[in-house]
Amino acid sequence: MSDIRLEGVSKRYGPVAAADNVDLAVAQGEFVTILGPSGSGKTTLLSLIAGLNRPTAGRIFIGGRDVTEAPAQERNIGLVFQSYALFPHMTVLENVLFPLGVRKIGGAVARGQALDALKLVRLEGLQERRPSQLSGGQQQRVALARAIVFKPDILLLDEPLGALDRKLREELQVELKQLQRTLGTTRKKPCPCPIASWCWTRAAPSRWRRPPRPISGRPTASLRSSWASPISSGSRMAGPAS
Ligand SMILES: Nc1ncnc2c1ncn2[C@@H]1O[C@H](COP(=O)(O)OP(=O)(O)OP(=O)(O)O)[C@@H](O)[C@H]1O
Ligand SMILES: [Mg+2]
Repeated sequence: MSDIRLEGVSKRYGPVAAADNVDLAVAQGEFVTILGPSGSGKTTLLSLIAGLNRPTAGRIFIGGRDVTEAPAQERNIGLVFQSYALFPHMTVLENVLFPLGVRKIGGAVARGQALDALKLVRLEGLQERRPSQLSGGQQQRVALARAIVFKPDILLLDEPLGALDRKLREELQVELKQLQRTLGTTRKKPCPCPIASWCWTRAAPSRWRRPPRPISGRPTASLRSSWASPISSGSRMAGPAS
């Protein structure tokens, strides 16, 4: 099981509460989107779940196990960064091979896995190009391939569509949902792996979350609601309410 549970999670940077007493539950196979204005703590929450950062308060559970203090490499989480963070000096294939190298997987096995991941995001044939020779949408797909190549239990996407134009965004929204289904099937698990998408949108209602401010002991509620869009119909939007 790889469901995610956050209980009263806070992250403070000095006087700023980047995340403030957040409760969140993502069941296995769910696709959850968090909306909020710039600076409301979306990237912070994601980095806490991925294990790149430690919360100041609260607990984080994955599959029922308390991973609050566990390092990132023990969590088997794929992460697509807000800025893609592709290695510019590496080819597409080398970028996708990178997380396998970190896990000591090499040779033909690694190459096969990397080419499979590139096929899944429809980038076959472009493996020898460098990121600068790709469109924004293609770079996004490389970042996705790199995040799924090691078969993560959880996929976190930080504003995965933010840098794309509307047409590409709509196409990739549908593809992300299809990818989640495909990953679930190919893993031969009863449920697809959970994909938590953490999207920022300027169209988000401001009531979801005010920008962080100095902590004042203010109680925080958690809020859930459905969000009707091609990417998340039937899924939940969750986030701390102001
Ligand atoms: N390392 C840090 N040191 C100090 N403050 C930080 C740090 N990282 C984030 N913050 C602050 O925490 C708050 C939340 O930042 P975060 O990056 O999580 O927001 P976000 O919702 O992802 O914003 P955006 O939509 O612009 O990406 C911001 O006020 C930010 O300035
Ligand atoms: Mg962010």
